[in-house]
Amino acid sequence: MKIAIYFSHSGHTKKVAEYIAGKLNCETIRLEEEKKRRGLVHFFVGGFKAVRGLEEKLLPFKDIGPYAEIFLGLPVWAGKTCPAVNFFINHAPLEGKKVHVFFTLGGDDWQKAGEQIRSMLSAKGALPGAVSAFPNFREFNETCVRTADDFINTVSKG
Ligand SMILES: Cc1cc2nc3c(=O)[nH]c(=O)nc-3n(C[C@H](O)[C@H](O)[C@H](O)COP(=O)(O)O)c2cc1C
Repeated sequence: MKIAIYFSHSGHTKKVAEYIAGKLNCETIRLEEEKKRRGLVHFFVGGFKAVRGLEEKLLPFKDIGPYAEIFLGLPVWAGKTCPAVNFFINHAPLEGKKVHVFFTLGGDDWQKAGEQIRSMLSAKGALPGAVSAFPNFREFNETCVRTADDFINTVSKG
């Protein structure tokens, strides 16, 4: 069974996750940070933790045991994976699960975050699958639709 799991602070990754879940006809789980930060505090604390590969504690989330294939969405923060998803990867039971990753980001440099998340997933015994990104994200436009459709096609071809 498939599921789309995502973290989204300002709603960009949510839009992509919902499109992908709609195409796959699967459920979504939105990961929520326990501490709600806003504005500059959010930006600086988030960036600081992301640079160091630290976690941000999440509120409890649904049991992902039944799902063998995960589409994991997250924003790039400071060129790296965001702390909420670091927490998810460190604490969720991912062993043996196929995990495909999609990023949204304001710029276009996501390759290092892609390598980082593949190695984090491997270290947890997950099977890293396809990695895709939605760079220069401002709105969910036609380019995003094409990128998401390509991502889904790549995954479905194995
Ligand atoms: C703390 C922080 C750090 C960020 N660092 C980067 C970055 O290094 N590169 C980039 O392209 N965008 C960066 N961004 C922009 C986000 O990746 C981008 O806006 C993303 O689409 C947000 O997704 P969301 O709306 O789902 O939270 C950063 C945003 C935040 C809040």
